Amino acid sequence: MKRMMVTGGAGFIGSNFVHYWMEQYPNDVVLVVDALTYAGNMANLDPVQQHPNFMFVQADICDTPQMEQLLREHQLDTIVHLAAESHVDRSITGPDAFLETNIMGTHSLLKAARQVWITEGQCPAQHRFHHVSTDEVYGTLAPEDPAFTEETAYAPNSPYAASKAASDHLVRAYHHTYGLQVSTSNCSNNYGPYHFPEKLIPLIITNILADKSLPVYGDGKQVRDWLYVTDHARGIEKVLQQGRVGENYNIGGHNEWHNIDIVNYICQMIDKAFATDKALQERYPEAISAIAGQSARLITYVKDRPGHDRRYAIDARKSSEELGYQPLESFQSGIEKTLNWYLDNPQWWRAVMDGSYREWIAKQYA
Ligand code: NAD
Ligand code: TYD
Repeated sequence: MKRMMVTGGAGFIGSNFVHYWMEQYPNDVVLVVDALTYAGNMANLDPVQQHPNFMFVQADICDTPQMEQLLREHQLDTIVHLAAESHVDRSITGPDAFLETNIMGTHSLLKAARQVWITEGQCPAQHRFHHVSTDEVYGTLAPEDPAFTEETAYAPNSPYAASKAASDHLVRAYHHTYGLQVSTSNCSNNYGPYHFPEKLIPLIITNILADKSLPVYGDGKQVRDWLYVTDHARGIEKVLQQGRVGENYNIGGHNEWHNIDIVNYICQMIDKAFATDKALQERYPEAISAIAGQSARLITYVKDRPGHDRRYAIDARKSSEELGYQPLESFQSGIEKTLNWYLDNPQWWRAVMDGSYREWIAKQYA
């Protein structure tokens, strides 16, 4: 039985991870630590709020004494560290917060874990610090290049990727220097429910439903390797259970798509959904292009992102051969689940998008 701290558990992947974990391991204790930045949302944790073994603390991971106190007070033996600033475009316009949370925040947590688990001896041997990282630390690939392996040299290109790379190195150093029992997973682009609509897939879905333009950066021929978020949660589970301490594991979907193809695919899916389910027209009367079966007319090519990485692709042989990891969801089934979730939860994404979600949340939890 684990007693686990999940940092960033009110964000997109963190909340999906917590839903998955509490369903699989209802006897484990899960304490979510989240600062509730713009990306954190208590509504994301609704499915587990009533669970007797679930706890939530609003806190900043940079606050080392508070992190130590939480590890002691709740006798925690596992950290799954997801808290981060996560959006590349924001890292270009304002990198400081990325360095603060992703580098200093990760270091703060590492210090707290070392202090409580090793120095104070709470669980000197049986502990785990699992760090959730990204494939973006490896940089960019040309079309014919082989996919990233765990041996690929780090070459981060955005301030976001550089801050994640730095945090990966700190995690590694705490293992080699102080004997902290760590593992790291480097995952490709995730999609699924509770995804903040500043990222490509939820932005396209919600913009079509609001009949807003669909911004495609540059020529739209950049490639990303997409993974359904619950498959990422299953990958983290495998690393926690069977992964070797001190190792990195790539987690990916074998699912490379050009951005423009994803955008067109979502347009077609939504047009089809509106054509077959007439009730959608009443629920989304503003979705004029989708109702006309012409969502693709909203596609607008815009200026490219500075330093835009051309292609990411994950070689996940190590996690597949060593851990027996395979994604369960096909892209078609995953994107269908995702689209249905957004169609069924307009109150969630409307509130998040118009910035009034704190007000909405305050009412939900009054
Ligand atoms: P997200 O932006 O949706 O969520 C981040 C969460 O961290 C939010 O709840 C936020 O409130 C919290 N947070 C931010 N700063 C904090 C601080 N100082 N203290 C405590 N909490 C803080 O991000 P996400 O997409 O869910 O990503 C989670 C993790 O997975 C990140 O580490 C990210 O680098 C990594 N990752 C993401 C993807 C992806 O496709 N989204 C892919 C691979 C890896
Ligand atoms: P994003 O979801 O921001 O993830 P990341 O930058 O971490 O890969 O973007 C995915 C891809 O989609 C990336 O190549 C940038 C592109 N993109 C657009 O073309 N338009 C958009 O409005 C957004 C948000 C992203």
